[in-house]
Amino acid sequence: MHIFSNVAELRAALARVRQQGRSIAFVPTMGNLHAGHISLMQQARQHADCVVASIFVNRLQFGPNEDFDKYPRTFEADCTQLRDAGVEFLFAPTEQDLYPEPQTYMVEPPEIQHMLEGEVRPGHFRGVATVVMKLFQIVQPDVALFGKKDYQQLMVLRNMAQQFMLPIKIIGGETVRADDGLALSSRNSYLNATERAEAPRLQQVLQGIRQAVLNGQRNYEQLCQEAADTLNTHGWQTDYISIRRQQDLVPAGPDDRHLVIVAASRLGIPRLLDNLEI
Ligand code: PAF
Repeated sequence: MHIFSNVAELRAALARVRQQGRSIAFVPTMGNLHAGHISLMQQARQHADCVVASIFVNRLQFGPNEDFDKYPRTFEADCTQLRDAGVEFLFAPTEQDLYPEPQTYMVEPPEIQHMLEGEVRPGHFRGVATVVMKLFQIVQPDVALFGKKDYQQLMVLRNMAQQFMLPIKIIGGETVRADDGLALSSRNSYLNATERAEAPRLQQVLQGIRQAVLNGQRNYEQLCQEAADTLNTHGWQTDYISIRRQQDLVPAGPDDRHLVIVAASRLGIPRLLDNLEI
């Protein structure tokens, strides 16, 4: 695996890949890799000849009270996993490499950036869209893969690629789960043993909502409120549980099909996200 931090050097190496007529799949990450990321790398290999990953903890997408400084950085272990997964190029820029001057031009996503995660984390999706646009300009991949666990992020980036007419196919990878159903996430490492044992309840309440909807329940607000109450009585602080339309994340009405239940709830220190398509 070739590791680059310098933008010009990576560009030159990827230009050679393109000259050889090889296609490029790109998986951007913030490191602290787990089986969910590795599954994206493996899928990437099926979509293109050459897989490029990036590791960059992007300050722009963290709020002032969020965990930027404490975000787990595990570069050596990440490299071993990426090598084993067949990644050919790793782009791991420093802040100076990627933001040599303060980033004053931003990619401003539309209304979707203010709902759900965006309501709790103002500016988050602007920071994500801006860094991914920069990474796309540098790597110029044919396909890019993002996990479905961050459902709203995937939607923001897919819409961005479409509206800016980027010639990049955006692919959503299925969420990888622990045996007990907990969605894998870098932030799970913040859970203590008691919280870790409690954590699968998030996916369980989403399964319960899904089953109720499949059984014909259409009072979505009540279903979600009951699920939030269940979590909160078990020590969670729930930001939202909501049934949305898959295509635009607008709150679903009783006649909508292709739904997704999205949820974010704090358990101890970390906020856990999960979702379930119906
Ligand atoms: O999902 C992530 O890890 C990040 O939001 C991303 C897409 C790498 C942008 O920093």
